[in-house]
Amino acid sequence: MITKPISKFPIGVFDSGLGGLTVLKLLEKILPNECFIYFGDTDHVPYGSKSADTVIRYSKDIIDFFLTHNTKAVVIACNTASAIAYKELRNSYNIPLFDVVAPSVAYSDYTSKTRKIGVIGTYSTIHSRAYTQSFTDLKSDCSVFEIACPLFVPLIEEGWSNTSVAREVAHTYLEAFQGTEIDTLILGCTHYPIMAETIKKTVNDHMQLVYSGETVGNKLSTYLEKNNCKNKSGSLGETRFYVTDFPQKFDELGSRFLGRNMEYIEHISLI
Ligand code: DGL
Repeated sequence: MITKPISKFPIGVFDSGLGGLTVLKLLEKILPNECFIYFGDTDHVPYGSKSADTVIRYSKDIIDFFLTHNTKAVVIACNTASAIAYKELRNSYNIPLFDVVAPSVAYSDYTSKTRKIGVIGTYSTIHSRAYTQSFTDLKSDCSVFEIACPLFVPLIEEGWSNTSVAREVAHTYLEAFQGTEIDTLILGCTHYPIMAETIKKTVNDHMQLVYSGETVGNKLSTYLEKNNCKNKSGSLGETRFYVTDFPQKFDELGSRFLGRNMEYIEHISLI
């Protein structure tokens, strides 16, 4: 049984590092009155090249941390953790838990006209075939084309998303979509929204890009409304940030991902 959430309690959002800030940015926009606790596991980043067992272990430590902070719901902003750890986490906890795979799949299935969908993500996300499985679970008639783009994350973190190097790398990965007739591309990694312009130009300017922050944000909003636990205090919510490695780099790069400065970042060790 899932514990009944209380409206004024915060929502936990976690990622392997700072990429999840692109998700948080949209959650804050969709749910401006909610308080969030953002957890970036910067000590263990990247998750994208790690095994399911390892990512499950890290994710459990983070959810245990959230439980001590009375979170009314938890968003797994990290695509890799959503793809390879969500099922196990859902079986282990009785709190409302939101992954980023299912909402983007449902949205793409609803909107695609050609019924051909592309997905890009980290090595572990794509290798798990979680997106394809999620379309199957939905009994969707869409064909799914998945491509791992592991070099995008370091390029983005280097601030090179819009350079000739990025365009070259994007072209090399994404040319496999040629001839597939996809009209919808799921950005299946927290970092990719930062590189959206380069990605879109490479595949096709008319391609619909799907952002996990938006799709999970709408799903979460509906859930909170239905369960009568939206924060209706009328004042703007606050966000607290926790990271497992030193906060300087998170602070420097993070404001670019979040689109604003972060007031207060605390270093915390879960060991
Ligand atoms: N946050 C990860 C994801 O969305 C990307 C970075 C990593 O590999 O940890 O898949």
